[in-house]
Amino acid sequence: MRATYKTLFGCVLISSVLVNALGSISAMLVGAGLGGVAVAAVYRYLLESENCNSKWTHFNSTGLEFDLDHKLFGQHVASRVILKAVTGFMNNKNPKKPLVLSLHGSTGTGKNFASELIAENIYKEGMASSFIHQFVSTVHFPHQRNIENYKSKLKQWIKGNVTICPRSIFIFDEMDKMQPGLIDSIKAYLDYYKNLDGISYRHAIFIFLSNAGGEKIMQVALDFWRAGRDREEMELKDLETALSLSVFNNKQSGFWHASLIDKNLVDFFVPFLPLEYKHVLLCGMAEMAAKGLKPNHDVATQMAREMIYTPKTEKLFSVKGCKTISSKLDYYT
Ligand SMILES: *[C@@H]1O[C@H](CO)[C@@H](O)[C@H](O)[C@H]1NC(C)=O
Ligand SMILES: *[C@@H]1O[C@H](CO)[C@@H](O)[C@H](O)[C@H]1NC(C)=O
Repeated sequence: MRATYKTLFGCVLISSVLVNALGSISAMLVGAGLGGVAVAAVYRYLLESENCNSKWTHFNSTGLEFDLDHKLFGQHVASRVILKAVTGFMNNKNPKKPLVLSLHGSTGTGKNFASELIAENIYKEGMASSFIHQFVSTVHFPHQRNIENYKSKLKQWIKGNVTICPRSIFIFDEMDKMQPGLIDSIKAYLDYYKNLDGISYRHAIFIFLSNAGGEKIMQVALDFWRAGRDREEMELKDLETALSLSVFNNKQSGFWHASLIDKNLVDFFVPFLPLEYKHVLLCGMAEMAAKGLKPNHDVATQMAREMIYTPKTEKLFSVKGCKTISSKLDYYT
């Protein structure tokens, strides 16, 4: 009797322990399952969201070469300089300073576009990458009276972003309209320092865009044409005078260059040539393809014809380059 009772009790006890155990095991399993799902989700999120590692930032030099050759029209000099500069910098594991490029040329010649091609061949996310930062003088730093505020903000942004990702790109558009003191405030970041407050800026890329020198570049291209020489024969050395310090030193084109040049902080000055009718035509065809339309030669011809060309006598170079092509196309389609 007692034994039976005991056994019975034992059984009850065992089964209740078992139930409890199973309960908590299943609870644990459910918990683990949920936890697993959560961990997996976090893991997937981490995998899929942009990160400052080689999966997301990986330089493709053949890609950059291909893009510069096939997508940027009429800029054989700029293409060569950019490819050489960016490839050399990206292949150098221990650069002594960040890469600083200064792109020059009149409106619509492809300075912004060339910067995009660089970004697209470094970041998987291209221009949408969170490691690329664009500043437009008239938009981000419009008021003279706020300059002190802009200075500290800009320094903070550059420092903060380089801390997050050493391989960051900073593009400054409309440099001609930038208040000189602003660039002075970030000069240290462009320099040969090993680190500043524990942060190294040596893997970053700074790109300055401006129209400064555009007219001089156009004059060189015009002289070439008038001398009956092939545009493609033009070399960087033919344009160097146009890009020289004396040109930038006048107040109009922004003397911000002077202090950067003085200290040799700009690694490459990149000239963008004025675009001819045939280049505008190519822009039109490319724009249609980019918008998912079938490239139509007649439409491209019509758009190219509507552009204004300079100088008055020869009507050789498009005054606005390819700038308004995109909006013109909206009108035609
Ligand atoms: C590099 O770019 C080329 C040309 O655009 C492309 O075919 C190739 O797949 C790219 N390579 C990598 C590793 O992304
Ligand atoms: C990075 O730069 C952006 C501007 O492009 C700025 O809004 C942001 O606050 C910066 N991030 C850090 C961590 O400083």
